[in-house]
Amino acid sequence: MKSSISITSILAIAAFVAGTPVDHGSLAKRAAAPPFNTALTNWVNSETTYAKNGVLANISPSGASAGSVQAAPSTSNPDYRYHWVRDAGITLHEVSGWLNATSDSSAAAVYNKKLADYATFSRTIQTVSSPSGLGTAKFYMDGTAYTGPWCNPQRDGAAMRAVSLISYARYLKSQGKDVTQYYDGKSPTSSVIKADLEYVANNWNADSQGCDIWEEVRGNHFYTRMIQRRAMIEGAQFANQMGDPGAAAWYNTQATAITNGMDAFWSGSIILPTINYNGGVSKPSNIDAQVFLAVLHASLEDGFYTVDSDRVLATIVQHIAKFNSMYAINTATTTTIASTSVPVGPALGRYPEDTYNGYESGQQGNPWTLITSGMAECHYRLISTWSKNGKIVVTQAVANFLNQLTSLYGITFSNSYSVGSTYGSGSATFNEILANTMLGGDRYMARVARHTDANGKMWEEWNLSTGFGQGAPDLTWSYGAHVSAATSRAAASKIVYGA
Ligand code: NOJ
Ligand code: NOJ
Repeated sequence: MKSSISITSILAIAAFVAGTPVDHGSLAKRAAAPPFNTALTNWVNSETTYAKNGVLANISPSGASAGSVQAAPSTSNPDYRYHWVRDAGITLHEVSGWLNATSDSSAAAVYNKKLADYATFSRTIQTVSSPSGLGTAKFYMDGTAYTGPWCNPQRDGAAMRAVSLISYARYLKSQGKDVTQYYDGKSPTSSVIKADLEYVANNWNADSQGCDIWEEVRGNHFYTRMIQRRAMIEGAQFANQMGDPGAAAWYNTQATAITNGMDAFWSGSIILPTINYNGGVSKPSNIDAQVFLAVLHASLEDGFYTVDSDRVLATIVQHIAKFNSMYAINTATTTTIASTSVPVGPALGRYPEDTYNGYESGQQGNPWTLITSGMAECHYRLISTWSKNGKIVVTQAVANFLNQLTSLYGITFSNSYSVGSTYGSGSATFNEILANTMLGGDRYMARVARHTDANGKMWEEWNLSTGFGQGAPDLTWSYGAHVSAATSRAAASKIVYGA
């Protein structure tokens, strides 16, 4: 479903590759790339150019306030032209990553302007009257609150916004800029970052009325708690940098309390999306993509619910197994990219009980672009994490993950691994596990390629039986998720293939 690439996109690819942020130095190749690798890499890179433009076009679009971010441009069927605090926070965190990584000064100026306007707009919507204050889910593009019936509060939003703006403020500080306008330790509510941190610190444990990221369930949610934890940890570090040690200690106390409470999400076999369920959609399967999205957006490199943890891997394996057999489109095992046959894995949805089809509720839900990209990214980040650890301890959960690569995709191991063994960096088994995990991640990347329009356009979802884009076209989050996965892929590829 993808045509050949133009000279312009080749130049853009070159620029993107040159700007690849993660430098692992000159690593020895651990494996030979499969025959389809070049075709897939070319697709990933040209789609990245398209997706970056897709993201930028949805920030401060014409007719809207500077710094507002539309979830998608469509105003009906579905009506997504709102500034959703969560979508915006995830997106601008990604843009801040681009700003930190780029050496192109004109690109940097564009990213910087979007972020500065987003910070100003964020401060505006913190201060206007809205249904749930800093927990309000969405705003009109002029900065006034949406006051129709909606699942409020959604307490992940302020936390994600704080994470995105702390990242930006750190960048500005590294450039010698004063950032007191964004964090003023003297007043708890007068600056954008400080106000969000205070909100998170005071409300993360307030009640179980908060709605989940899918805006359908009340309770306490894994995604929300994980991003609140990240906001408190990074907020404490930043408060110290800003000469506000009392607040730093208070945020650290909250972070510790959140961390200590996370065990409640472990069922013994899967990470639960919600505890203290308080109404809304019921999910007897307990399978929900919000769990691994939380790992991608909120885990820090501290071993706590990182992608290589047993609990996360066990949850991922069940998600894949369930969705693999759910959608008619998942019977396809290959796609063609630039005349090359590339193997694909399953398209993945939010949770098995989903009945939202992109426009309305009532039928079986569809697979989502950002979730399938997210699963690709989990694989790539697993490679980086194992590589950084310098070893793989094969627990039962790791073995189940690797076994699934074989049972589902026929990816075989010539070096056997066994539960209870540790394979050090440089060993043949370690190298093969990394290489096969790369192949696994690429199954999802190729799945995204299969259902992305030939010109690069993405939607929120793909129809579960036709595979065509469905729901909101040009969803900001879909584009951001692709760029994020592509960045992780480039880092993993250096580790596995040496380039
Ligand atoms: C819109 C929400 O954003 C979506 O997540 C939900 O599934 C539908 N409304 C139905 O509640
Ligand atoms: C529906 C999704 O469920 C929700 O997470 C998102 O914020 C909105 N769409 C807007 O993209």
